[in-house]
Amino acid sequence: MQNIDEPAVALVVAAGSGTRLGGPVPKALVEIGGRPLVRWSVDALAAGGCDRAVVVVAAELIDDFRVALAEASIPVELVVGGSRRQDSVAHGLAAVGEQGIVLVHDAARPFVPAQVVQAVRRAVGSGAVCAIPVLPVVDSIRRVGTEGSVVVDRSELAAVQTPQGFDIATLRSCHLRAAELGLEVTDDAAVCEAAGHPVTLVPGAREAMKVTEPFDIVVATAIAAARVASGSEGPVAVDLNKEKQ
Ligand code: CTP
Ligand code: MG
Repeated sequence: MQNIDEPAVALVVAAGSGTRLGGPVPKALVEIGGRPLVRWSVDALAAGGCDRAVVVVAAELIDDFRVALAEASIPVELVVGGSRRQDSVAHGLAAVGEQGIVLVHDAARPFVPAQVVQAVRRAVGSGAVCAIPVLPVVDSIRRVGTEGSVVVDRSELAAVQTPQGFDIATLRSCHLRAAELGLEVTDDAAVCEAAGHPVTLVPGAREAMKVTEPFDIVVATAIAAARVASGSEGPVAVDLNKEKQ
């Protein structure tokens, strides 16, 4: 039985190759503000109430990740990943234990505010099987097909972020089922939903952005500088009026 303030295990997936970002090392090892992204991510999860982390990495980079995480704020166990994100999560789940709460997080979202991590963790601690952070979509959206394109009502849409929180036993059984059925998914909420479980939404944050393309490094560098200057793990205050004075 969970309780609202139960600590969670962080499952941080960092075994991707970072093709869209480019560069000599996968993005989890890219340094911003003096720390690799994976270290920012683990510390962000610790600030939101995770008491240990399982970090999933590419086999050939295990020594680099050991160095990158040597001074992380919670104990870290490294596990070797798979060829798709969902395979990496499945490998990590084998190391998180049998019960409790797990927060599955993209290493590529290094600046998720502690408040978002805590909201996800507390939703599961309060009884949700699966809780995810979401944001409203700000652009107009069109569905594009071979016959042209058609507008989509964006008020019905939400962008999904991580960490995504789960009851460990449920997520493990849903991943086994997904593997048996050969399901292809882009996140773990979809794995749970496919097994018939409800998904609880909590507010996400712009700072939980995923570093995906070179442009994102510009934004991430600015966030890191603000965090280092303020010494906080919370959202960076953007005061537009200050610029005008
Ligand atoms: N990931 C993983 N194992 C994989 C693929 C992805 O652990 N086989 C992780 C990435 O390291 C990242 C997160 O899943 O932290 C989100 O994936 P994405 O942003 O797509 O990262 P990459 O797959 O590394 O980037 P790209 O798709 O541009 O190659
Ligand atoms: Mg990818």
